[in-house]
Amino acid sequence: MSLRIAVVGAGYWGPNLVRNFRSNPAWDLVAVCDLDEARARKVIGARSTVEVETSLERLLARDDIDAVAVATPARTHSAIVLAALAAGKHVLVEKPIADSRVDAARMIDAARARGLVLMTDHTYCYTPVVSKIAELITDGVLGEVLFIDSVRINLGLVQPDVDVFWDLAPHDLSILDFVLPGGLRPDSVAAHGADPLRTGKACIGYLTMPLAGGAMAHVHVNWLSPTKIRQFVIGGTRRTLVWDDQNPQQRLAIYDRGVDFASANPNELQREAAAISYRLGDMHAPALPEQEALGNVAREFAAAIIERRAPRTDGRSGLRVLDVLDAASRSLAANGDLVRIESATELVTGRVA
Ligand SMILES: NC(=O)c1ccc[n+]([C@@H]2O[C@H](COP(=O)([O-])OP(=O)(O)OC[C@H]3O[C@@H](n4cnc5c(N)ncnc54)[C@H](O)[C@@H]3O)[C@@H](O)[C@H]2O)c1
Repeated sequence: MSLRIAVVGAGYWGPNLVRNFRSNPAWDLVAVCDLDEARARKVIGARSTVEVETSLERLLARDDIDAVAVATPARTHSAIVLAALAAGKHVLVEKPIADSRVDAARMIDAARARGLVLMTDHTYCYTPVVSKIAELITDGVLGEVLFIDSVRINLGLVQPDVDVFWDLAPHDLSILDFVLPGGLRPDSVAAHGADPLRTGKACIGYLTMPLAGGAMAHVHVNWLSPTKIRQFVIGGTRRTLVWDDQNPQQRLAIYDRGVDFASANPNELQREAAAISYRLGDMHAPALPEQEALGNVAREFAAAIIERRAPRTDGRSGLRVLDVLDAASRSLAANGDLVRIESATELVTGRVA
């Protein structure tokens, strides 16, 4: 028997969830809820058996709905998700999981207390390319990670509730959380932002995160770039990979090139620049299946509910992303100072207030 779901929010992103839950055999899309009735009607189209609802309260009072997928603006997530969990529904919530860590922790607590699945839609983690990258890192194909450089720039809508870091960087941070062994656990972050059009929030952002072992990750997010670039580079001691998401012919290239240390002794290395040598080799572009990530999201959400397990991108992964964003906001306010990242894990108490 299919699980019954309602999608809340039928703006820009909601229709993609509607399409995927509609076409997935594990799910039966029962209703679409939006404060704007016309928007919800437009998404489901004419002569559909899917119902339109404008009241969240009425929607959640129904006992023929097992789960909700929330695609409303970030500032509304916690109220909607907490109400859905209180009504006994499993929840898939869009990124960022919430606009504050305290709210995200409350959501995680509430889901655990009621034995419900809380999944964050970290969409990119369900793409074949990100699965491949995780595999390459885990299998040691890249060697030790030395640097990560992510560019996610395009002409974007200035969001009413969040700046460019909170809007776009959840993608990069959730990918890092997914591919790095042990997840995303940097100690500190520096954020630099700019608002040259005076919109009132950062529209251009740069994040720098020192990683374990002396490596460095850098993320550039930008709403003001007329050219769309989605590029992710991971340099390792053995190989370097370049993921160009705008190039479906060759989305992922693995270069058998890296740096070799002539000496394992770091002190010796500092004295002798010549101790570092570069190795040049072939490039390999693995064949990757073309799959819509949201189809995999819908499958994983259903599987987590049926198997009574945490989904691959659970509330905690949403919270780890917020840990970095929260510190990034503090760094931005401190003119780009390197700010310590505090883990909010201790906020997750297991007791619901
Ligand atoms: N996973 C991704 O790749 C991806 C891409 C884009 C956006 N998003 C996320 O999706 C979410 C929505 O973004 P968007 O760009 O679609 O926003 P949007 O403003 O275009 O749409 C939001 C919709 O939610 C409705 N809404 C607001 N409050 C509501 C409530 N209480 N009950 C019912 N409906 C309500 C609004 O009427 C609107 O139609 C955000 O969290 C955003 O970060 C994710």
